[in-house]
Formats: sequence, structure tokens, C-alpha cells
Amino acid sequence: MSRKIIVFDTTLRDGEQVPGAKLNVQQKIEIAQQLKKLRVDIIEAGFPASSEGDFRAVQEIARSVGDSVSITALARAVKSDIDAVYESVKIAQDPLIHIVLGTSNIHVEKKFNRSKDAVMEMGVEAVRYAKTLLPHVQYSTEDASRSDFEYLWSTIEAVVKAGATMINVPDTVGYAVPDEFGDLIRRINDRLKNLNPDVILSVHCHNDLGMATANTLAAIKNGAEKVECTINGLGERAGNASLEEVVMGMKVRENFYQCHTNINTKELLRTSMLVSHLTGLDVQVNKAITGANAFAHSSGIHQDGLLKDKQVYEIMSPEEVGADSMELILTARSGRHAFKNAVEKLGFETNDAADFEVLFAKFLELADAKKEVYDHDVFYLVANHRTLAD
Ligand code: KIV
Ligand code: ZN
Repeated sequence: MSRKIIVFDTTLRDGEQVPGAKLNVQQKIEIAQQLKKLRVDIIEAGFPASSEGDFRAVQEIARSVGDSVSITALARAVKSDIDAVYESVKIAQDPLIHIVLGTSNIHVEKKFNRSKDAVMEMGVEAVRYAKTLLPHVQYSTEDASRSDFEYLWSTIEAVVKAGATMINVPDTVGYAVPDEFGDLIRRINDRLKNLNPDVILSVHCHNDLGMATANTLAAIKNGAEKVECTINGLGERAGNASLEEVVMGMKVRENFYQCHTNINTKELLRTSMLVSHLTGLDVQVNKAITGANAFAHSSGIHQDGLLKDKQVYEIMSPEEVGADSMELILTARSGRHAFKNAVEKLGFETNDAADFEVLFAKFLELADAKKEVYDHDVFYLVANHRTLAD
């Protein structure tokens, strides 16, 4: 039977930690609304103890989309952080407190300079306190993949006994490799299911060795029930596991993973474009699933094969992720009708005739300069125009 995997999006927390990706409150709400359309299960909206602005953003997101998506935010294992999370997410229908504390020797010795027992006790105390505020508490064992297994397990056991309802196992520095990470998750899962089968086991992978998606999928194969990802794989350093890759990996290879998600995959491309536009961070052209070339075929042999049967060179249809099976490339001679069609196809309205004329003039300028205008160009053109008009 196919298992449902919970999708937790942390674009607005871990993703926003990328240098240069600063978003204002309105932009964060816009992304959160798109994540709701995408049907993610949980949105991590920020780190409210870090600043007044972050607190306000989390609160506004909880207010605007928290009626149908679970909302969480990050806290260190200290009361003031947990209070900030509680105060910012409590208006949502299904709020969750997310606590993080390291378990590796490096974190315990270098970051906290305390004994292992003392650090574990900090985590337990934090969970006990969070449970007085909300029923749902996630505990992240930071740097789990470089932790001593027995200490990692003792921490998990202790925080579950204190009331944690989700255990998140991060590969914080992207050090793990798929076989090893899958094995780690299987060992934790075996013990966790004996301890308390209701606790959800989650993973959070970073991409320092380019293996965040592979590690996440290996974890799913070995019992993980929840995945933490970001749109376009945004995140610290080389980024986080990319939501679109993890979700489509499960979907395209459903027979292998025997898992599914609730994601509306037809919204993937639009979400990717919106995040790229608002953060100002480009998506590489050959990025899996959402890159401009993800469904482009240029060699004669491939084109010939595709014309005979698409499955010869396509493992998923572009429509499944919200792209066109045949992207029309616009030029300065395309005319209003073709441009209007491209704009509407990308989810924008064109009802205001005067506004459309301004937009069309901008398109002609771009087409003169660039010669060929792709869907991605049209998206950024319209999104920029609308932002300036607001
Ligand atoms: O990478 C990490 O360990 C994190 C935690 C807060 C889950 O981002
Ligand atoms: Zn992270």
C-alpha cells in the first residue's frame, strides 16, 4: 500500500537564510499563499525570536494561510524562543512548535561547552515547556548524521518521553551519503516504532555533496514519514533538498517507493518561478523538474524519438509539473494574442486593457533586445511589472 509522506516546506526559514534572499512580509505572504496552492502539509514560516520583522512575518502567514496549512516556526531550546514561536503561530488552526538542539560531539562540545547529559536535559526541558503551550512539538537533533548513534537515540527517547510528537533527523552539513543515511533512518525507525508508533519520523537534508534529494529518498525508503524541503533547493550553503525533486522522485517512481504526497504537482513550476522572482535568485537552466531546459530536447536523435513516442525520452510529462508540452517561444513578431495567451497560461490576469498595453510594450522592448522570449522571461516580466504597480 502507498504511504502518504508529509511535505514540510522550509523555504521561508532555511531557504531565506541564503545571503541575498531577504524577503519582506508581503513577499513572504505571497509565497505562503502559493505554497498553500501547492498543497504542502506544513509551512515553516521563519525564526520569530531572531527579529521583530520575522516574528511579524510568521504571525501574518499564520493569519493568512493557517486555516488550511499547519504552520510552524523555529526555536532554539530556550524558553524565550519557544514563547516567540507560540505567540506567532498560535492563531493557525494546526500550529506546531519546532525545537532544534545539536546531538553531535562537535555541537555539544564546541557550541554548548556542556556535558552530553546536560545538553540532553536542556532538550527535554524545552519539550516539556513547549508541551504546556501546544500539543504538537517537533524536535530536531541537529547534526544527527555526525552524531554518536547511542547518544542520538538516547536523546530521541528522552524527548519522545517528554512529549515530542515529531522527530526530525537533519543531515545539517550535507555529510551523509544515501546508503548510510537510509541505514540510520531504518535503525531509528525500528526503535521509534517500539517506543511510540504515533511519533512521526522526519528528515531534513542539505546539499553540500549534491545528495540532499538522494538522501531524502533513501530515508523515505527506510521508513521516514515526513520530508523537509525548500523550493528550488534554496538554503544555507549548497542548499536544502529541493521540494520539486523529492516530490517528483516519489511520483515518477511510485512503484519503487510505494509512497505519495498531497502536492498539486501542476503548481510546481509556478511556485519555482515565483520564489526565484521574489528572492532574485535564478534557477539554473538544467535544474531537474523546473529548469528552463528540463523538458527541452535539442539533438536530432532525441527529437526524432520523441516524435515517434514521447516516452522514448520523457519520464514525466511537462504538464504534470505545470510546464507546457510545447513551449511557444515568443518574438517581437508574436503579436498581442500570443503574448496574452502566454501571460494567462502563467496564472496572471489580463482583464485591465490599459495595463495590458503597458505590459505588451515592455514585452516588445524585451523581445527586441533578447530576440527569443521564453515562459520564464514572460513570468519575470509580468511579476516585475505587477510588483512595481503595487
Ligand atoms: O539543518 C538543520 O539542522 C536545520 C534544523 C533547524 C532542522 O535547519
Ligand atoms: Zn537546515
